[in-house]
Amino acid sequence: MFKDQKISYSGVQPSGNLTIGNYLGALKNFKDFARDYKCFYCVVDEHAITVRQVPADLRRRTYETLALYMACGLDPEKSTLYVQSHVREHAELAWVLDCFTMFGELSRMTQFKDKSAKHADNVNAGLFTYPVLMAADILLYQTDVVPVGIDQKQHVELTRDIAVRFNQLYPDTFTLPEPYIAKNVRKIMSLADPTKKMSKSDENVNAVVYILDDKDTIIRKFRRAVTDSDSEIRASEDKPGVSNLISIYGGFTGKSVEETEKEFAGLGYGEFKTAVGEACAAALAPVQQRFRDYMADKAQLEAQMKRGAEEASWYASRTLGKVRKKLGFVQL
Ligand code: TYM
Repeated sequence: MFKDQKISYSGVQPSGNLTIGNYLGALKNFKDFARDYKCFYCVVDEHAITVRQVPADLRRRTYETLALYMACGLDPEKSTLYVQSHVREHAELAWVLDCFTMFGELSRMTQFKDKSAKHADNVNAGLFTYPVLMAADILLYQTDVVPVGIDQKQHVELTRDIAVRFNQLYPDTFTLPEPYIAKNVRKIMSLADPTKKMSKSDENVNAVVYILDDKDTIIRKFRRAVTDSDSEIRASEDKPGVSNLISIYGGFTGKSVEETEKEFAGLGYGEFKTAVGEACAAALAPVQQRFRDYMADKAQLEAQMKRGAEEASWYASRTLGKVRKKLGFVQL
């Protein structure tokens, strides 16, 4: 489909206010692919409804996520930015791939286990087949690389397994994708419980720093972050709180763990936490400013959504056409 160009694809659910985990693990890295890859970045609203959403909130966050993509440096002239539910091929290919995915494979997905425990009153079939829709997203665009946080690695590996299985029966249908996980920022953890992932759905707002939090809030949240009883600023497995802060500081400043340890040697946690908050607020300030500018022009955002959907549909329909033909569906 794109003979000489590599494809980068990723998505973010508009299911809550986006966190610095989403930013450092995913969004911030998207633009790094824009120069050498053809990029598709999607606001995955169909994934979001696997958990109950308030319609007005889902709608608002869909606009916000698109605005954040651009605020994080993605140029819609170069990258295709769009909303999943505007491109019907995603749901259609997901059904086809459902028939090539095993019950046992989906039962092993850790996100399914976590989410079904958390939403025990609503363990719907969509929550279970969620990774198949994600596989459809990725495979529709013949993707080479998927920049994600480490929590999504298992889903990308399943996508590959599904693609291999399909290609064995119907050769040369899908490109096999690879996950890309940022080296220093594998997983940002909760500030209240550093053994847990920082998550946009966390009910404790102090556990999470949102991309749109103001400077005072950011600094206050970092100052309250859980650390440990000694006072050494050093990354190690038995110091998950401090290790997490070192990783966040590195994510925002580009400094390695060793550089950070050296910079804060002999200083206390209080000073370190304030410095992490300052670095985070300084890095996010220009993103927040651009976000506000984009959000001020809704008509422009809608025009952007329309254009993105048209571009994405063009590519997606080519892959789906190929799949339909290979399966033996009658072409009219
Ligand atoms: P979502 O919406 O939960 O998160 C969006 C991206 O942010 C990353 N992320 C994190 N990275 C580091 N530390 C954290 N604490 C953290 N929290 C979230 C996620 O790994 C993700 O990259 N299933 C996906 C959305 C999706 C998708 C796709 C991604 C749907 N289709 C196709 C890639 C390709 C998800 O739930 O992301």
